[in-house]
Amino acid sequence: MSINLRSITDLDVKIRLVHSSEIHSTNRYILDQIPLGAREGLVVVADYQSAGRGRLDRSWQAPRGASLLASVLVDLEPLGELLSLGSLVVGVSMADALEPFAPGEVTLKWPNDLMIGEKKLGGILVEMSSYGAGTMAVCGSGINVSWSAADLNQIGRPAVSLIDPGFATGEERSVILQRYLPRLFENIQALSRGAHARGRFLDQYRSRCSTLGREIRIELRSGELVGRAIDIDADGALKVATKQGTEIVRSGDVVYARPVNDAARDR
Ligand code: BTN
Repeated sequence: MSINLRSITDLDVKIRLVHSSEIHSTNRYILDQIPLGAREGLVVVADYQSAGRGRLDRSWQAPRGASLLASVLVDLEPLGELLSLGSLVVGVSMADALEPFAPGEVTLKWPNDLMIGEKKLGGILVEMSSYGAGTMAVCGSGINVSWSAADLNQIGRPAVSLIDPGFATGEERSVILQRYLPRLFENIQALSRGAHARGRFLDQYRSRCSTLGREIRIELRSGELVGRAIDIDADGALKVATKQGTEIVRSGDVVYARPVNDAARDR
């Protein structure tokens, strides 16, 4: 199965694509390459990962050839104080890229799970690495492109795939990457233009974010928090209204307390 990026020619960033049929983890591969001089624009795609990494120290598994498993090396130095928004930019860029393939609206469950309705379509893991005085980000995405119903059922949580394997052409992963990479680099560049850009980006994120307005429970490293998700703050953190007042959550796992229709009726 080949991945090609022929049509990406007009980016400021030079793209270098590495395609592996099997790798431990595309994120880890790039993290290992940073001290060896890897540059912004390195893109690593794999058909299969033997030690895929998920958020919050979880593992990430996907059947061979059925997902877009991709990591991109991005220099976040231009973002300066907006660094914390870097990971949300990845989610918005990927959601936009997936739109034409998706059998429904692609939303983001905070911080950046890609969802269709209540089902997870993909996940994003951004891992930071310092170099000199700056910060590089390894932006990893695992998107369910052509999973069988049997594989989806095995995950144990509601999950969805873009295309039934019987209808996949084999070109989908290339096309998604071709749409995603320009958006990712353009959105990072746009965000580096200061405070107005931050406001515009946050509005874009909010309109994609299906967590806002919902009753949630968040599993934190230190326990759990229950309340209503009310906003995203200027740093990309989730504001949650609880019985004790408003809490700011910077990282954690959101669980929806009730199905979306109940939440909409209560608003
Ligand atoms: C999540 O837990 O939702 C995030 C999953 C991110 C998985 C992707 S697959 C490509 C990249 N390489 C990894 O090891 N993980 C990310």
